Parts: sequence; C-alpha cells; structure tokens
Amino acid sequence: MMNATDIRKSFLNFFKEKQHEFLRSSSVVPHDDPTLLFTNAGMNQFKPIFLGEQQPTHIRVVNTQKCIRVSGKHNDLEEVGFDTFHHTFFEMLGNWSFGDYYKAEAIEWAWELFTDVWGLDKNRLWATVYEDDDEAFELWPKVTDIDPARVLRCGKKDNFWEMGETGPCGPCSEIHYYIGEDPSNQSAEGVNNSDEYWELWNLVFIQNNRLNDGTLEDLPEKHVDTGAGLERIVAVLQGKTSNYDTDLFTSIILKTEELTGKLSKDNPAPFQVIADHIRMLSFSIADGALPSNEGRGYVLRRILRRAARFGRKLDQHEPFLYELVDTVCKIMGKAFPELIDKQKHISKVIKAEEASFNETLDRGIIHYEKLLKNLKGKIISGDEAFKLYDTYGFPLDLTQLMAQEHGLKVDEKGFKKSMEVQRKRAKESGKFKADMKNIKWTTVSEGDDSVFLGYEQVNAEASIKRFSVMDDTILLVLDETPFYAESGGQICDKGTITGDGVDLTVNDVQNENNVFIHYCSGDFEEGKASNSISCKVDMQRRQNIRKNHSATHLMHAALKEVLGEHVNQAGSLVHPDYLRFDLTHHDKITSEEIIQIENLVNRQILENKEVTTSIKEYEDARKEGAMAIFGEKYGDTVRVVTMGNYSKELCGGTHIERTGDIGLFKITEESSLAAGVRRIVAVTGPKAVEYVQMQSAVIEDLQIKLTSSAQDLNKRVDQLLQQKKDLEKSLKQKQKSSSTFDVKKIVTEAKVIDSKKIIVYETDAADMDTLKEFGDQLLNALDSGVGVLGSTSGDKPSIVVVVTKDLNESGISAPDLAKSIGAIMGGGGGGRPHLATAGGKDKSKLKDALKKAELIIKDALID
Ligand code: SER
Repeated sequence: MMNATDIRKSFLNFFKEKQHEFLRSSSVVPHDDPTLLFTNAGMNQFKPIFLGEQQPTHIRVVNTQKCIRVSGKHNDLEEVGFDTFHHTFFEMLGNWSFGDYYKAEAIEWAWELFTDVWGLDKNRLWATVYEDDDEAFELWPKVTDIDPARVLRCGKKDNFWEMGETGPCGPCSEIHYYIGEDPSNQSAEGVNNSDEYWELWNLVFIQNNRLNDGTLEDLPEKHVDTGAGLERIVAVLQGKTSNYDTDLFTSIILKTEELTGKLSKDNPAPFQVIADHIRMLSFSIADGALPSNEGRGYVLRRILRRAARFGRKLDQHEPFLYELVDTVCKIMGKAFPELIDKQKHISKVIKAEEASFNETLDRGIIHYEKLLKNLKGKIISGDEAFKLYDTYGFPLDLTQLMAQEHGLKVDEKGFKKSMEVQRKRAKESGKFKADMKNIKWTTVSEGDDSVFLGYEQVNAEASIKRFSVMDDTILLVLDETPFYAESGGQICDKGTITGDGVDLTVNDVQNENNVFIHYCSGDFEEGKASNSISCKVDMQRRQNIRKNHSATHLMHAALKEVLGEHVNQAGSLVHPDYLRFDLTHHDKITSEEIIQIENLVNRQILENKEVTTSIKEYEDARKEGAMAIFGEKYGDTVRVVTMGNYSKELCGGTHIERTGDIGLFKITEESSLAAGVRRIVAVTGPKAVEYVQMQSAVIEDLQIKLTSSAQDLNKRVDQLLQQKKDLEKSLKQKQKSSSTFDVKKIVTEAKVIDSKKIIVYETDAADMDTLKEFGDQLLNALDSGVGVLGSTSGDKPSIVVVVTKDLNESGISAPDLAKSIGAIMGGGGGGRPHLATAGGKDKSKLKDALKKAELIIKDALID
C-alpha cells in the first residue's frame, strides 16, 4: 500500500514525465492579493497568467498547493469533522496548461493516472461534464476506455468552476469515485448527491473571466487547471472510507487520544475537528498569519476557538492543541519544510492563544447554559450571540455550532447588525490597490514596458507607453523607469517626471503584475505624451531608504544571532526616516539585548563591508543559506543581497554600496505587537545622529537643572524622588494634625487658677514648625494664661510654651518655663518671652515632662 508521501510523489512524477515543470506551492496566506483571505485553489498563483497579465515561465506545470477553505465561495466549514472528507486545510494536486494542451490531454492523462498507474476500479469511477460542453462529453469515450454510460452532463452549480465572484473561470469535468461497499448499488443519481460518491479530481477548462458586473469575457488563451484533493485520493488508494483513517491524520488522532485519555471510536467528531483544525492552524501560522481580531487573523482565531471548544468535549481545560504541532510537522514537514522552520513558533502562538481563550471559554459556556435555560422559543437572539462574541470571545460559528447541538438557531441578521461597527473597522483596515481593470488607459505606443533601472541609476530619459487621467491624478506607465515601486516592505520612490508639456511630481509608484504605475500630480498635456521625458528620483530620500533597507538586513541577522534562530521577519517597513521590523519572538527584548544588537550592526557598519547583489536559482540561494522571508512568494530566480559575510537575504529592494554608508544605527523603540511578535523601530544615518543629539541635549539640560554630572543624574533623580516622597508624607501628616488641633475646645477645657488659664496638651504636630504654629493659635485664643503643647511626631520630643502678655509683665517668661520643662526631657529650651520651645532626646520622656509642666507653671504663677 502506498503511503501519502509516495502518492504525492507519484502524481508529481507522472506529470513531470509529461514535460511538466514542478513549481512549489505558493504561500497559503496570499500576501499580495487583498481580495483573497487564503489561497483556496492551486490556480490562485496563476491568476495573472490566465488573465493575460503575466507571461508564464513554463507552459506546463505540476504542483501540490496548500489550500484553506473556510470562508467565501468555497467553504465547507460546517461539514468539517462531522463528515469524513471535507477539510479547512487540504493539499490540492494539480497539473496546468497555460495556452498549451487542452481538454483531450487533460482528460486522457487523468484517466491514465487513475486507472493505469494507480489501478482505481473503472467500475467505481464516474465522469461529469458541463451540460453545454459537447466537446468534453464526446472526448471522454474517445480518449479513454470509460463506459460511456458513466459520463454525465451536469449543471452550472457543479460543472462550471469559478474562483470567486469575479476572475478566471470555465466549464469543468469532474471525476467521482464510489466508496460504497457494494458496487452494484451505484446509480447516476448518486453522483453529486450522495456522500458515497466522492469528487476526486476537477479538470477545469479556463476560458472566461467573470467581470464585476457579472458578465463573462473570453480570455486571450485557453488553459487547463486541474485540482485533485490529496487527502481523498490517499483514502481511496489506501482502501479507506474516511480521510481521517489515512496516514495523513492517524498519528494526529492517536496523539490526541494520548493527550486526552479518550478514544476516538467513542466520539469521533471532536478528534476529527481537532485533527483538521490543527493542520490549518499550523500551515497558516507557518506562512506568516497570526490570530487576531480582524480579517485573516480572525479566521485563525475562529478555527482555534472551535478546536479548543471541541477540546472541552474531551475534558481538556488546559492548553493542549499546541502539543499536536510536532505530530503535524512530522507528517508534513518533508513536503513542506516551512513547517519545520517555524515549528517552535507555531506551537508557541497556538499555546498563547489557547491560554487566552481558556480564560473566557468556561465562563462563556456557563453563560450559554444559563441562556439556554431562560430561552423562550428556538432562536438565540442576535444580541445574545453578540454578547457571547464580545464578552466571551465566541465566534458566531461556534455559537451556531453549539446552538445546532440543541436544535436551535441563531439570529444571524441581528448578530450582524451588532457587529457592523467592528466590521467597518475591519474593512477600512484592508487596503485595496487601484484595480488595473478599472483604469482607462490611453496607449501612446505598444511594446514592452516598466523595465526597472533603479538599481543602477536614479535619473533616466524615458518615454510614456500609457497614461490615464483620473481627476487630479495622472497615471503613467513608462518604457523604463528608475522609480522603485512599493514592494517587500520598502516604500516607493518619489521625484519628478518632466519634459515638453509634462511637469509632474511622482507621489506614488505601484507594481501591478510587473507593470509600474506612477501616480503623479502636476501639468500634463496629453498631446505631448509621445515626447521623451526625464525621470528624476528624489535622491536624498532614496539614499535614506537604502540605508534603512540595508540596516534592516543587518539587524535581521543580528536578531538571529542575539535572540536565536527562531526569529523571523513577520513584517517590515522601510521608510526614508526610519525602519520598522516585526519579528517572531515571545519575550520582551531586554535593554542588554538591544545594546548587543546595536553593537553587532554598528560593527558591520564600521567594517564597511561591500554590499553585492546577484541573481540565482531559488534552490541554490537557499542552499547557500540566504534568508527567505516568511510566506513571501519567490520566482525561480531570485535576487540575493549579500553584506560581507554577515547577511545574505533574498530581496528585490534597493541597497547601499558599502555597509559604512549606513553611518550609524540606533534602535529607538521595542514593543509587543501580538502574541509572539515584537516590533522594533530604528533609525540610521543622519536620523540616527539627530536622535542621539536630541537625547544628549535632554541630558545636558537635565545636568544643568539638577546640577549633576551625567553619571550622577540617576542618583540625583532618585534622591529628588525620595525627597518628594518624604515631603508628601509629612505634608499629609501636617494636614491630618491641623485638622485634629481644635484650639477652641482646648481653651474651654483649660484649668483656671485665679482667672488665669493653664493648658498642657499633647498634639500630633509633625514637626517643630507645626507645633509653633499651634502655639501661635493658642496664644491668640488666650486672654490670660500659660500653655504648653508637646509632640513626639518627629524623631525627638518637643514642646512649645506660650505666655500671655499680662503674665510676661508680671514676670513669667516662656523661655524660663521651656528650659525647666526641657530639662526633664534631657534637653534645653529658649525663645521669646511669649513663645519658647524646648526639645529633648528621649521621646518617652514627653509624657513625664507634660505631667510636670503643670506643676512648674503653677509654681511660677504663685511666685
Ligand atoms: N481550480 C479548480 C478547483 O479548485 C481545479 O483546480 O477545484
């Protein structure tokens, strides 16, 4: 019995022998097609070829494409895990003809592979063709030995394939296989209707393009696009009736059994959902997607949360899905090495996301159960579904799935209403580039265009091939251009295009299938468009971009050196003023690590190494260790940018000539972007100098203000902060004590001897100043008398003595009293006749001193 790896190989070899060139699967995350969330068919990467926008490098191609189908036109999410043959992630084997062979060969070869090479039972195979496609209908019995009764005509739904609402499409012919036990039970009615007939291979004859208004136009050439689901083929060839029983899935299910202690045969659905979803998550994360709240990232989040919720069905309350990643890598890593490269990253991302959902999942389930108890009728309201979404993180489809288990429905419309605000936000974030199809071009001259000269020169004489005037914007396509179009994170060049009747500022340059469109503003006389023009790139800006781009490469290498090989680029922006770099890394990058990274990059700058570029075969470049970027699509030949012996990266951007041109490199920011992703912002050249100068100006200013050397600044600031703290503390105490010092009350409670008042009172004054202030207040409130106030709130005991003027005149003086009382506390005293203070050494002596004070005063009064 062939295993899945052999089957994949034998498909590829069969077509290689028929002069097909093998092409690698494109990323399952289509970074350059904003109309598609995920690659959902093998043909996605060839769309520009079908539309005639790009020339194929080979006219016959074979591949196996990683596909994800979870939303949009082709979407089987509801079935996934509950039947045995639908998946969110699957591999699509395909053979392609770009304007070369057509229906006859496609049909003949498919049959040959199925029946001769793989030996599938002809009496279980059925072929369908589009009802109007007489040609295919007649070809089947002509080029194969199929029983003509097994060739069926079917309608548009099944046999006219379309990629999406718009785009390449055409009639198709499908091959179905009966998996039932008894072949004599077969009938034509079962095809496309019963789950016992599996669609194995779809041969699409691409000849049309569906436009925005729904009409079809003929394509310039006819093409073949076939797609065969590897998982189903493996099942059929291994004699299984479930994909989950093939070697593509069994070890994932076994591992899940091991982790959960439950058996799949008792309750297969949760095991199957989990096995399916973990593949989708692993592949999409390997290609650079991350769970988030918007767009693509939200699809990952939905899938992960579905899987986690099925984990609850297996009594899993702690993260466990991430432990399946190694198994997925073991099964698929040979065919898709990107999985192995990103293995650790994938499990970390999944684990973090599981852990965060676990925090709300159980509460959400409890909330949901309560909701069920109180539910009247059979519909969960939109508001409730939104609450589950918003508060507990339940994606709508998870709520629907749970509702379905109880025979309920969810008011989807109501939910969508509540979601509108969020949706708007998601929509706005997805930028759609100008659609080439909707630009009305005026052709100036035919022939090749958009030869890029910008690696060598920044000025060029060129001619206009096409132009379009859209309001104030003039769009130009030139025969040759020095302007770099935004790509690979490097933003575009700006500058001027001038000539007789042409005086334009170039504001933006975009690359649409290798056509460089210059978006300009200014004066443009259409009649003069055929004259030659001069292109001038803003040199200073370009030079800064170069520095930042080259520094990005050096930093990428340094990050790997300092943080580890797991670091990968997850996003990058090369701007004239700064560079921004997102990297896969789980911990905060410490200040020591930042310094190490800066040192490594600056050492390369100081060594002034040569920067060279070369064009190489992709495989050769990878073998030499050139770094390729996460999920980026590369052609067969690639441009390799090398900096000394430190960095080697595949890159189409513009770079400096020697590392010394960067001048200086300085990281200015480090932050967390998402689970497992950090963001670094850095500056180079004049901007780095400016940054350092600004920092040092701030330090100098502080030095002057704080009268401190730079080295001591920290200590000085710590001191000031401590002082501030102390002051705040004593202020608080002061406020508290003055609020408790009630002078009126104290005076009314005074002892009176010969109509003279005697007051002895312990306060909670925070310090001597407060105590003196209280003394003043007391003196003002006394007509005739003596007061002694004490406090131990400071370190030492202290008292204040006040004596009214009439008593001063009769010979009683505050300093004398203070001295006598102070002596009891082991200290001295002194002051003015009406107010004196005394301190002591031992706090515990205050009570005694105050007690004796009364006697001392009485003595003085009697004398
Ligand atoms: N494009 C077709 C499909 O996706 C065949 O590859 O089914």
